[in-house]
Amino acid sequence: MKKQTVLTGITTSGTPHLGNYVGAIKPAIAASRDPDVRSYFFLADYHSLIKSTDPERVLQSTLEIAATWLALGLDTSKAVFYRQSDISEIPELTWFLSCSTAKGLMNRSHAYKASVQENQESGEDLDHGINMGLFNYPILMTADILMFNAHKVPVGKDQLQHLEMARDIAARFNHSYGKHFVLPEAVVDEDTKLIPGQDGRKMSKSYNNTIPLWLPEKQLRKAIMKIKTNSLEPGEAKDPNDSTLLTIYSAFANSEQKAEMVQAYHDGIAWGTAKQIVFEHINAELSEARERYEALIANPAEIEAELLQGAEKAREYATPFIQTLRHAVGIRPLA
Ligand code: TRP
Repeated sequence: MKKQTVLTGITTSGTPHLGNYVGAIKPAIAASRDPDVRSYFFLADYHSLIKSTDPERVLQSTLEIAATWLALGLDTSKAVFYRQSDISEIPELTWFLSCSTAKGLMNRSHAYKASVQENQESGEDLDHGINMGLFNYPILMTADILMFNAHKVPVGKDQLQHLEMARDIAARFNHSYGKHFVLPEAVVDEDTKLIPGQDGRKMSKSYNNTIPLWLPEKQLRKAIMKIKTNSLEPGEAKDPNDSTLLTIYSAFANSEQKAEMVQAYHDGIAWGTAKQIVFEHINAELSEARERYEALIANPAEIEAELLQGAEKAREYATPFIQTLRHAVGIRPLA
């Protein structure tokens, strides 16, 4: 079987939290151990500029996310792990693709349309606050994917439209210039674990309810103690079907451990005791990696070296491929 290329990007715009860990990072690292796939994981720092004009924040997030993947055991001798901005072929491809993408296709982007609609509702000019980065976002993302001819792209449901656009853009380029690109497929893992935040809504930066992944032990305990429960007293049975705490625990525990906790709910476990169990479980899963994380964060040169090596590997594919594409569009030496 020919190796399948699996590629995904992580926007460098925040601090990794428990939701990112169980929903994306942990399954991606596990999948990259499959010898039949070639994995490309990258830090989408160009994408982060669309929403953030704070350079320190972009830099800090890049450092934290890179350290996170390495601390959690990503094997960079198998997976290609790099920073988008180290591959100058990507912005070049973005331009080629921009020139064969209909503006009308971009007008239909959900993210762009949502911003226009917000402006409409608040009586602003329709273009208010919308930069060209937001408008062109799907083309940059398409270039990320096509640059390595990825077959499969694991993404959240919110990114499905971008994958449809990537296929459209690839097909259009292929139609004009010959078949250069594989049409990529989205992979949405239906059992991906989505966990709620402390208040019970989806764990997300925008709700301010996240539990950062690398909190020191004491703070992690405190954050878990803050998960919303109800006023049932110790000894009173608790409802396992309506419990943020149990949903979070289930993303970490195996089925036996989960069943034990469900039984404890029926038996009226005190909330404080249940939270202590959840804390100890999550802490045990993370504590070794947390030490590696802290060592890495204290030594950014090591992370930088990893990323540069990853970029070199990525360019083994990207550099000859962009030459082929330049040739295809008619950008060639004159003699
Ligand atoms: N847009 C993706 C997100 O916000 C991040 C991303 C950028 C990406 N380029 C990509 C994901 C290419 C998959 C493939 O989640």
